[in-house]
Amino acid sequence: MTRYDHVQTQLLQSPKTWLITGVAGFIGSNLLETLLKLNQKVVGLDNFATGHQRNLDEVKTLVTPAQWANFNFINGDIRNLEDC
Ligand SMILES: NC(=O)c1ccc[n+]([C@@H]2O[C@H](COP(=O)([O-])OP(=O)(O)OC[C@H]3O[C@@H](n4cnc5c(N)ncnc54)[C@H](O)[C@@H]3O)[C@@H](O)[C@H]2O)c1
Repeated sequence: MTRYDHVQTQLLQSPKTWLITGVAGFIGSNLLETLLKLNQKVVGLDNFATGHQRNLDEVKTLVTPAQWANFNFINGDIRNLEDC
């Protein structure tokens, strides 16, 4: 078993809540998909400066409805204290 396999097993057994800044971007949306498929809870923040709603829409098609329900999206700017 690789270290990565071990971490995935641990996360499945003990889910956590994650914050992804830039969740609608390339790296953020791929990380979102991976974490939701591991049944993690995710809060995602993005202001769509360079990211796209279509990236989030695609993730929705790749996970189960129950996994998607573990995702809370905040349309906001990380530089804005109120959004954070
Ligand atoms: N198919 C591919 O292989 C592919 C596709 C796209 C990009 N890339 C690579 O990925 C890298 C870029 O990916 P990335 O995910 O770092 O960039 P990104 O631009 O895709 O994601 C950054 C995200 O942060 C958000 N953001 C920016 N400022 C913000 C702010 N102040 N508050 C809230 N959100 C904010 C943007 O809206 C965006 O969604 C580059 O190296 C690029 O070459 C590869």
